[in-house]
Parts: sequence; structure tokens; C-alpha cells
Amino acid sequence: MIQLIRGFKDILPEESALWQHIENTARALFEDFGFREIRPPVLEKTELFKRSIGEDTDIVEKEMYTFPDRKGDLLTLRPEATASVVRSYIQHKMYAADPIRKMYTIGPMFRRERPQKGRYRQFYQINAEVFGEASPYIDAQLIFMLVSLFEKLSVTDSNVHINSLGCPECRPDFRKALSELLESRKKQLCEDCIRRSERNPLRVLDCKVPSCREAVSDAPSIIDYLCPACAAHFDTVQEMLVKQNVRFEVDKRLVRGLDYYTRTTFEIQTGALGAQSAVAGGGRYDGLVEALGGPSQPAIGFAIGLDRLVEIVTLNQESLAKHPMVFIAALGDEGIRNAWLWSNDLCMAGIRTEVDFSGRSLKSLMKRADKVNASYVMIVGESELKEGSVVLRDMKTKEQHTFSMDNLVENLKTFLYQ
Ligand code: HAM
Repeated sequence: MIQLIRGFKDILPEESALWQHIENTARALFEDFGFREIRPPVLEKTELFKRSIGEDTDIVEKEMYTFPDRKGDLLTLRPEATASVVRSYIQHKMYAADPIRKMYTIGPMFRRERPQKGRYRQFYQINAEVFGEASPYIDAQLIFMLVSLFEKLSVTDSNVHINSLGCPECRPDFRKALSELLESRKKQLCEDCIRRSERNPLRVLDCKVPSCREAVSDAPSIIDYLCPACAAHFDTVQEMLVKQNVRFEVDKRLVRGLDYYTRTTFEIQTGALGAQSAVAGGGRYDGLVEALGGPSQPAIGFAIGLDRLVEIVTLNQESLAKHPMVFIAALGDEGIRNAWLWSNDLCMAGIRTEVDFSGRSLKSLMKRADKVNASYVMIVGESELKEGSVVLRDMKTKEQHTFSMDNLVENLKTFLYQ
């Protein structure tokens, strides 16, 4: 038997209602905040991710699904969506008509990480990106929108972490100070961090290896190195979050795993998922549009790990409201024929309806109704057909209601939606 690839998974019909609930809640909220959907492809030229995410990141170094196509062009299954949205913004010259664009996208991403709970090789993200807005108010509003989505989904165990990574003007000073510290503590660092400390020292702050954590426990804080403009920007973000009653903590270790970030970065973390604590992450990337060949336009965005969110929403949410479901227990040929016609009409009228066409006994049909969790069973047997009426049984209260076969669909509709 052919099994799925390690780290990949099926989202089964029993699970998809929750996924849809989360996606629909996000769509509705984001559209109210002025976002519109964009759907970029899942396959892009490898170069796009190398240039945006950064050659020295874990993602580009060891996690991308990259392969040559039949002509030898190097292609990559997207490990994230931001690079594609930026490419699209530039390619379609979206900035020309109106540089301010708010877009969201929902879809699968691919990273060849070591699979474990909350970490998959194909996973899903809900992304939101804003272009053309440099103001810190947009940073705070985006964080507020993200937190509001979590609230709407009744996620309680989550914390907002924020930091600023400065800009090309102030970051080099911090990088230098950090490099000096790392150089003096080289012996304590893991192999990856020894390499990182030369090429991308900020990433060492994010390493989970205990000896590396120890080595940077008293590392300088980037916030002390911010230039006046970056410091003022970060102050305003915090001030507005406080005004809006968004609780957050400033986390000087929050450096994120992608190289394009500038200024504000943030994550939503939860204790409910073990080691994979980040449910969402994002930040400003003011230099990326220009770096990928577009005009100089600021930008900011975030991505929610949908698989992780599904896991914590399941924990918090007992059951999702479902439409009532009618099961028609039809007996005999004529009963089944009538049931077939009625069920089509009921489905078209927006009433979830199922029929069993097997011609089994009433007893086994009732068992099946239980199995499919029917809220109502409509019995259509010989005597019902003779009398020209059907009985609808409420499976919860056991109450029975009789309906004439004339105008049946209309009357059922009124009854079920009253
Ligand atoms: P990221 O932090 O790499 O950021 O990913 C965002 C979220 O995707 C994570 O917080 C996590 O919930 C989820 N995630 C990442 N990897 C996996 C995995 N292997 N399995 C399950 N979930 C995963 C980005 O991707 C940026 N593009 C976010 C962004 C948008 N920044 C600006 N705009």
C-alpha cells in the first residue's frame, strides 16, 4: 500500500469543518480591515527565496524542496508566502496605481524540517501583508487584527511578543557588539551557532541549544542600539498597543528566522503546543520590495501557522455549530423513489439531507441515522405513502411531527428554520 510522505498529512473530512471555520473567520475579519485575497502559485524560481529569505537561514540552507524541472531550471516549493506576494506586487506594478495594498493569502507551504507535533513538511499559513505604509500605526493595527482573530476563535493561552530589529543604519552596531561577545564565547556555542556567529550572528539569539542560550543570556539588547527614528517607531507601536488594551511583552530574543525583517517583529506564542510555541509570526520588511527589483516601498505582514492554530482551537472549542441534518429512512421502491426526489429538493433548499438507498429494514436504517448523527429522521414507509404524509422525528427530543406530502419541502424548510 502506498502511504503518504513523511511529514505530510491528510486533513480528513471530520477535521475540515474546523479548518473552514478558522479560515472563514480570518477572511471576514481581514476583509473588514481592508484586505483582499491574492493567490500566488506554490512553485517559484529558487532564486526568489534565496534572495528574500536569505542564503544563511535554516530555511534556505537546509529546508527547501528544490529541484530542477525538465529544462534544468531550479524551482522551489514555496517555504513561505511573503516572497511570492512581494514578487507579485512588483511584477504587476501594483505600486503604480496605488502603492498602498493590503493582501491576504491562505495556502500550503513546504519546509523539510524534522517532523514532530506542530511541525510538518507541508503546512498551511494564513498570511496578511501591507505594502506602502511606513507608519508605526499600521504595525500596531496589524498586531491588533491578529490578536482579535485569536479572540474571535476563543484562543486564550496566547502571548504577544514584540521586538525591533532596527534598520540598516543601526543594526550593524548591534551586530558588531554581539559578534564580539560571541567570539569570546565560541567554546560554548553549538556547531551551527559557530557558523552563524560569523555570517548571521543575530540568529544565535534564537538557538534552542542550552549552552548557546547560556552564552547569550547576558547579550546586549538590540533595543539599546536603535537609532532615534527606529526607537521612536517602536515607542509608538507600543503606545498604540497599550491604548488598544493589547497585552504584549518586549522580547529582545525575538529575531525571527528570515533575513528580510527590519524594525518591528512580533510573534504569538502559546504554551499549549509543547516545543512548537509560535502560532504566528511577522514583522516589517521595509527593504524587501526594493531588494527584489521594485521601487522603495515599506511593507509589513504576518503569517499564522494554521495547523498549529487548528490544534489549539480544537482544544478550546467543544463543538462547532452544525446545520440540522435530515436522514430519510425510506422503505420499499416507491418510498426510495420519493425520497430521492425530496432529498434533491431539500439539498437545493439548503437543508443537509441523506438517504439510504439500500432498501434495508427500518431497524438498520435507524442505526445508520444514528451513525451519521442525523438531527431528524423522516420515515417514508408503505403506510405513510398510503396516507400521503410523512413523520419527522427529532432525534434529540424524540418528538414526532407529521407533514403532508403536498408542499413537503416548503413546509420542512419553514419548520427547520423557524
Ligand atoms: P515563520 O515564522 O517562518 O514566518 O512562519 C509563520 C508561522 O508558520 C509560524 O509561527 C508557525 O506557526 C508556522 N510554521 C512554520 N513552519 C512550520 C512547520 N514546519 N509546520 C507547521 N507550522 C509551521 C513566515 O513564514 C513569514 N513569511 C511571516 C511573515 C509574513 N512575515 C512578514 N509577512
